[in-house]
Amino acid sequence: MRLHVADHPLITHKLTVLRDRATPSPVFRSLVEELVTLLSYEATREVRTERVDIETPVSPTTGLRIGDPKPLVVPIIRAGLGMLDGFVKLVPSVEVGFVGIRRDESTLQPETYAKRLPEDLSNRQCFVLDPMLATGGSLAATVQFLFDAGAQDVTAICLVAAPEGVHHMEEQFEGRDVKVVLGALDSGLNEHGYIVPGLGDAGDRLYGVA
Ligand code: PRP
Ligand code: URA
Repeated sequence: MRLHVADHPLITHKLTVLRDRATPSPVFRSLVEELVTLLSYEATREVRTERVDIETPVSPTTGLRIGDPKPLVVPIIRAGLGMLDGFVKLVPSVEVGFVGIRRDESTLQPETYAKRLPEDLSNRQCFVLDPMLATGGSLAATVQFLFDAGAQDVTAICLVAAPEGVHHMEEQFEGRDVKVVLGALDSGLNEHGYIVPGLGDAGDRLYGVA
């Protein structure tokens, strides 16, 4: 597994506003969308392209475009849905799958309640969206669903992570083609499994309900 932690003042600035408990839901939603766009730049660095001949108004030339099979993006419902529009704006040809997981807050184990993915992901590049990588259970379960369906490689984009979640991913996907792109790597988890300093419950802050 490979890890990339963003190091850019614009990302840190937006994350700082996002973390602030005084930031209301509408601003929080806009910031999540802006942040996923910025992080997607790194996350799509290895997206597969094919050569294409075009004509500019001046001359014929050769360029690159994202070809087939199309990449698949999977937001982890709920909070990952807040990142979908930002990603799709950047890669409009992407196809979208869905995984619904909620963490049992007493055991911290992920519980899958929805899954709508193409049956065969052979040779497909996949991207997973979830703002929070805490224990890593939810992300690891989702990445495993994609590999089980034959995905070639998986890149996850998370806004904030704890080292515990990164270690979980490293252990489970050692030697697999998994990349995790983060906006920030925080200090750790508290006794309730929340990222410290983190930003609280991302789903609650995005949608205004617990
Ligand atoms: C949050 C978050 C991740 C998960 C991270 O979702 O969006 O999916 O927790 O925790 P983990 O790394 O310990 O698995 P939550 O379960 O709160 O559901 P929600 O998105 O519906 O609010
Ligand atoms: N899920 C969240 O939304 N926030 C955390 O800090 C941990 C899990």
